Amino acid sequence: MEIKNQLTMKLQSLSENVGIARIAAAAFAAQADLPISEIDEIKVAVSEAVSNSVIHGYGNDPKAGIIECTMTLYEEMLEYIVIDYGKGIEDIALARQASYSSDPERMGLGFVFMESFMDELEVRSEVGQGTTVRMCKKFSPRKTH
Ligand SMILES: Nc1ncnc2c1ncn2[C@@H]1O[C@H](COP(=O)(O)OP(=O)(O)OP(=O)(O)O)[C@@H](O)[C@H]1O
Ligand SMILES: [Mg+2]
Repeated sequence: MEIKNQLTMKLQSLSENVGIARIAAAAFAAQADLPISEIDEIKVAVSEAVSNSVIHGYGNDPKAGIIECTMTLYEEMLEYIVIDYGKGIEDIALARQASYSSDPERMGLGFVFMESFMDELEVRSEVGQGTTVRMCKKFSPRKTH
């Protein structure tokens, strides 16, 4: 698949940067022929992934590390990859279950939103190494006359 455009951001692990990633994700998605409702879904999915890196990956410690967010536009697909080098996930299948959270104060819905709002969701993680979340949204290319 030919890459049409690509953007990589390196964010400090700060909750303020979740909103910046969210806006950047939407701005990048505007290149695709998508309805606003699907751009809104991308905003939610990307901000859930970045906030997981801030909260869980780096334990809310702003000096803990860097989050890399790469956005790629293909002919018929947008791909968002969010990487942290934090604590990692021990049991990915369990973490992805609806209502599962390692924090009793949280809803445990982040992965559920990512899964239901995007067409593909891939989670890779190693304890002590970090986590990579890859999400894709497909669309029909603009018709040219
Ligand atoms: N980047 C990450 N690094 C380490 N652990 C993670 C990461 N992302 C998710 N997890 C683990 O997976 C669990 C489920 O994540 P999910 O986003 O679905 O729910 P949550 O973050 O706990 O709650 P919510 O997203 O509803 O606030 C988390 O509680 C956490 O234990
Ligand atoms: Mg979450």
